[in-house]
Amino acid sequence: MTLWSGRFEETPDDVLWGFTVDTSDRRLLVDDISGSIAHVQMLGTTGIISGTEASTIGDGLSAILDEAWAGSFEFKEGDEDIHSAVERRLTELVGIVAAKMHTGRSRNDQICLDLRLYLRRSAHVRIGQIDALIRSLVGQARRVGDAVSPSFTHLQQAQAIPFAHHLLAYAWMLKRDAERFRDMCTRVDVSPLGASASGGSSLPLDPDLTADLMGFAHRFDNSLDAVGSRDFASEYAFCCAQTMVTLSRLSEELILWATIEFDWVSFPDRHTTGSSAMPHKKNPDMAELVRGKSAVVLGAANGLLILQKGLPLTYNRDLQEDKNLVFQADDATSGSLVALAAMIEAAEFHPKEPTSWVTALDLAEVLVERGVPFRIAHEVIGLLVASLVADGRTMEQVTGADLVAAHRLFTLDDVRWSNPRTSMERRVTPGGGSMVSVAKQLEALAGYLS
Ligand code: ARG
Repeated sequence: MTLWSGRFEETPDDVLWGFTVDTSDRRLLVDDISGSIAHVQMLGTTGIISGTEASTIGDGLSAILDEAWAGSFEFKEGDEDIHSAVERRLTELVGIVAAKMHTGRSRNDQICLDLRLYLRRSAHVRIGQIDALIRSLVGQARRVGDAVSPSFTHLQQAQAIPFAHHLLAYAWMLKRDAERFRDMCTRVDVSPLGASASGGSSLPLDPDLTADLMGFAHRFDNSLDAVGSRDFASEYAFCCAQTMVTLSRLSEELILWATIEFDWVSFPDRHTTGSSAMPHKKNPDMAELVRGKSAVVLGAANGLLILQKGLPLTYNRDLQEDKNLVFQADDATSGSLVALAAMIEAAEFHPKEPTSWVTALDLAEVLVERGVPFRIAHEVIGLLVASLVADGRTMEQVTGADLVAAHRLFTLDDVRWSNPRTSMERRVTPGGGSMVSVAKQLEALAGYLS
């Protein structure tokens, strides 16, 4: 029997049942039960049901919660959704008094509550996973010490930087990803319970009490908004999507660096896969899959927005689709965070030093320090580069005499600045690509992680 059979003369058609029942809400089992426990406690406290009824129902729900955590809760064929399944089980355990549980409530505020409870829990797990990845990156940044690598713009070598600076860029990006989850939690942290079907109830419900019992910071201000809005779900999916964009970029670099052409990183056998055809292959499949799964997550985030865009207030059954999309985004993000943390943790980085061309900007800045306008200094070094190229030489072969010939304010001794490592040591910008800046970043990130 459904929760709504009263006004119907026919039982649901198999087609309707098959099409409308969605089992994805089973993941909300513990949240659904926890919400009901708070609801029933409120019903008892306000006298809407008697204290005895409330504690009988509450005890039944606690027993079901134990089953849920133990994984022994059984779903049955006729369970239309998670709410029906819990009510059916409650009836089995406590009998007819179970019929009072749904007093003053609708599945519309209930499902919204369940999803909010779930996302509040999972946001904290995601934040923990992001922090674990940051920890691995910080560990690697320490391990690579003062290894020098080029920074890239347009995927062309740009400036000499400590390789740790490159790794730490991802740590900062991920820290913001974690902060976004934290910030989103402030908007998830609102209880919709008491909004009922859409307009509230004629019973003296106490939504502040239920919000309090479930540890929510606030309750809804508008019942239509409470049951009809899913911006918290799309925001969660966006947090996943932005995190996946970070992970996808990191993955792309790992894939690139693992090529024979780059050879900047090696992964242990246990983190790579082989080819069924080419015996020599050792592929960074986890990183490739993270890049692939980012497409799934971006699609899910987009899907959640599209799901809501044309909906009149308040609840519409379309919204049932929100859960599949959120779970898809969440699962892919969770799996990707774990996979990349493992890869980074065990990776061996051996970046190659940059070509000496990357010292060009630093050389121009030597002239700027001596009063030459930057535009002129740029031109002088540009001409020097062009003449070296024309001679078939590289910046490595530049001599002090070449520099002095390029500009009278150069001295013979300035040739040392054409070495990438020395030129990097000239870097003074706070947060720039220098070992001093890396040390400061490591200190700041250790503070964040502690
Ligand atoms: N399964 C529904 C969902 O996920 C729960 C709410 C159903 N409400 C209703 N009036 N049919 O959105």
